[in-house]
Amino acid sequence: MTASYPALRLRRTRASAWSRRLHAETVLTPADLIWPLFVTEGAGVEQPIASLPGVSRWSVDGIVARGREARDLGIPCIALFPYTQVDRRTEDGREALNPDNLMCQAIRALKDAVPEVGVLTDVALDPYTSHGHDGLVDAAGYVVNDTTAEMLVAQALNQANAGADIIAPSDMMDGRIGMIRSALEGESHHNVQIMSYAAKYASAFYGPFRDAVGSRGLLKGDKKTYQMDNANAEEALREVAMDLAEGADTVMVKPGLPYLDIIVRVRQAFEVPVFAYQVSGEYAMIEHAVAAGAAERDVMVLETLMSFKRAGCSGVLTYHAAHAAKLLGG
Ligand code: PBG
Repeated sequence: MTASYPALRLRRTRASAWSRRLHAETVLTPADLIWPLFVTEGAGVEQPIASLPGVSRWSVDGIVARGREARDLGIPCIALFPYTQVDRRTEDGREALNPDNLMCQAIRALKDAVPEVGVLTDVALDPYTSHGHDGLVDAAGYVVNDTTAEMLVAQALNQANAGADIIAPSDMMDGRIGMIRSALEGESHHNVQIMSYAAKYASAFYGPFRDAVGSRGLLKGDKKTYQMDNANAEEALREVAMDLAEGADTVMVKPGLPYLDIIVRVRQAFEVPVFAYQVSGEYAMIEHAVAAGAAERDVMVLETLMSFKRAGCSGVLTYHAAHAAKLLGG
């Protein structure tokens, strides 16, 4: 028999701070965070991104400085995204394969200066294409799967050769995880991990990111033929199962907060580490709410990040990573 009121008072364990701490079911630490950063050309350059208030693009030296900051704050991993110069963007996004592109420069500089911080690299062609799509587009405007996947394999190898620790394909092509895994094995990159953006939805929350990488104005149409329909949850489980069968080490759900149900279901269905990407539009919502006086940044940041841990995530990609790590005493 379970007790009932007044023997049972659930407020008892909440009555003091030490007791709340003692009874916390979930912990959030700087070690749960992955910090996404945007790289741009030049030296000593910081370019604030208007639609992502508080976030800037940094030249490679600035990225290295952020890498040191991450290390000092206890943030284990950085995610990199390039702002490719417009004259280097082409129909086929071939700059992604250039061994000296911005991404590779940033990877090498980070691994040289702060090898103890992990480097996660995005695999998709959108920062490099003149049309802003993640893959190759045919005459009808359709993003073709198989030839895109071949480009992505070459892109992933290029990043791994530069020193990337985690390859994170965000393109949603079918079959690319298996192809990338076997190419990595073939080149003896046995310990390079793959974190698949397994359940990535076509979302209105990516707008500020597209400003940050400079693809918003270029993008023709939408990404609904490859990113998932937000009406679907069962399909997310199939996407995860497929990527795991092909050799993904870890999987990601993206965006984050509007898809917490998906995180829970993936956790329940698969015994694998799940990550969430609290994307640019989510970050912007918080910052705009704070600017409007409608919310307090610190508590809102920690509350949203805790929700991902509560849902079962191993970690979270968030633009608030450095701020949150400071609040968490990193
Ligand atoms: C591109 C990519 C996107 C994001 C990460 N990788 C945008 C998109 O798919 O259009 C979004 C991240 C964010 O909004 O913070 N492959």
